[in-house]
Amino acid sequence: MCGIVGYIGNKKAKPILINGLLRLEYRGYDSAGVATVEKNGITVVKSKGRVAALESVKAIDSLEGTIGIAHTRWATHGKPSDENSHPHTDGKKNFAVVHNGVIENYNELREFLGKNGYSFYSETDTEVIPNLIDYYYQKDSKDDDKKVLRAVISACSDLNGSFALEIISTFLPEKMIVVRKDSPLVIGRANGENYISSDIPAILSYTKDFYLLNDLEYVVLSRDKAEFYDKNLNVIKKDVVNIDWNASAAEKDGYADFMLKEIHEQPKSIRETIGSRLTSDGICSIESLELSKEYLSSLNKIYIVACGTAMHAGLATKPLFEKLCHIQTEVDIASEFRYRDPLIDEKTLVIFISQSGETADTIAALKLSKEKGAKTLAVSNVIGSSITREADYTVYTHAGPEIAVASTKAYTSQVVLMSILAIYFAEVLEINSDLIPDLKKAILKLPSQVEEVLKIDSMIKAFAKKVYTEKDIFFLGRGIDYAAAMESSLKLKEISYIHSDAYAAGELKHGSIALIEKGITVVSIMTDPALTPKTISNLQEVITRGAKTLVVTNQDLGDKVFDNVVKIPETISLISPVLSVVPLQLFAYHISKEKGLDVDKPRNLAKSVTVE
Ligand code: F6R
Repeated sequence: MCGIVGYIGNKKAKPILINGLLRLEYRGYDSAGVATVEKNGITVVKSKGRVAALESVKAIDSLEGTIGIAHTRWATHGKPSDENSHPHTDGKKNFAVVHNGVIENYNELREFLGKNGYSFYSETDTEVIPNLIDYYYQKDSKDDDKKVLRAVISACSDLNGSFALEIISTFLPEKMIVVRKDSPLVIGRANGENYISSDIPAILSYTKDFYLLNDLEYVVLSRDKAEFYDKNLNVIKKDVVNIDWNASAAEKDGYADFMLKEIHEQPKSIRETIGSRLTSDGICSIESLELSKEYLSSLNKIYIVACGTAMHAGLATKPLFEKLCHIQTEVDIASEFRYRDPLIDEKTLVIFISQSGETADTIAALKLSKEKGAKTLAVSNVIGSSITREADYTVYTHAGPEIAVASTKAYTSQVVLMSILAIYFAEVLEINSDLIPDLKKAILKLPSQVEEVLKIDSMIKAFAKKVYTEKDIFFLGRGIDYAAAMESSLKLKEISYIHSDAYAAGELKHGSIALIEKGITVVSIMTDPALTPKTISNLQEVITRGAKTLVVTNQDLGDKVFDNVVKIPETISLISPVLSVVPLQLFAYHISKEKGLDVDKPRNLAKSVTVE
């Protein structure tokens, strides 16, 4: 999805902006552009295609300015083209703007501005913004140093939808104004300079000190300061937050792709997630979470709401909440939940899982839950992200920045953190369960067990080489293995473009087995001793019909001989997705590589889905 970078300081802005855009490439985009404040006004250079195409535009060589804004665009309103790329300006180039988000009432605003003498060159929703700012600027008879800010505030008050904006103006050539609403934007503070971005990793190599913005806080940036205002021009006090991410965590570090690196980082990221929340002497605590026994006992339902892989982490951990806490737990897709008037009230706790913390549907579902009186808990990887600021409580996965579009280490960290949360709730509720001490030990073993699993790579690669040309690959599992199968199937389809589905193994006979024909590949996960014999029968049914199989298991399969068996370490089945999904992440990765695809940036996908 679109990315934003900005700089105001004493260095030449262009290389910093280009470097930032390159770091945002993983988000997915189809055009790019920059605008800088030059001696003779604002210069805009933009181009359809990759950042490399932008760099080859002749005009970019002349950019000398030390204040600039930049953008990678993922087309929504209007096709990818030079004209539709950002930055956008008003006709007189008084204002240049980059924008992430969607302006829902842009047609109305375009009509209004048209009647007031403004004309448009692009098909975008964004182009109304610089024109609207100019309209308010020209209308304002008071000439003081807040005039541009007042115009920006008036324009933003007319905008419906979501926006993160960087604005430069010939009327305020030594400053920049930024603001956000329902779309991420952070300011990185350094000595005598400010960096701006939609994503922390893009500017992490320059600073670790950040200002995190709330909706509709207007920021006037100069080289050495950032001033924050509300819409009535009252000054807002804002503290710097230190983001403890290692800048090299956002580099490939010798790996061919970010995804491969992130798969291999999982022992470390899981260790970070566990942190001091679970100690070897069995103490479980969650920092900054004060949920009383009285409150947890009052609950009649827990909802886990999320999208995609994060939702799969919810499916993988729902059984733990039910088993340990004895509270009915439902998992829902955020985009469904938000529109179906869910039955929730103050007796419901709604947990939102989101790696980025910026997913539009998840944020909307969170706001709805609060309106309905439920308490909300965010599980996120990004400090200060939108959902963490909306939710009543937040716990962080601490998996480090995840750059590849396909989520891997964030998923395993989400499952681990949710498992620890379930234990923590059970302990606050003083529910006695023999399972808890064993679970704690099993969770602590996970990082070294993932290390073991990663060693199985060559066998998986060999199988991937055999099947990478297939059109369909199916996944089977029962219980917790079904949840892991869904995640594994999603991973495969998003980076290999092979059609894939996951089925509850027992459901196969009720229709889907009709798809099984000679030569088809079926992957099966079996980690639950109580269910393994049943899944084996289902697997035999597909083998009889000519399927070739890959089995991921930690069970002794007795006299049953299957062709391709990936043996993973034993653990308690309830947390087994942390181990069973890893070889299948590698499976998806190797298939994608065999097909010569862009593993980190699969087609049509964006890392963080900030629009509906
Ligand atoms: C798939 C993937 C997506 C995300 C989903 C939610 O690999 O990454 O399915 O899980 O878009 O994103 P977050 O967790 O940022 O809310």
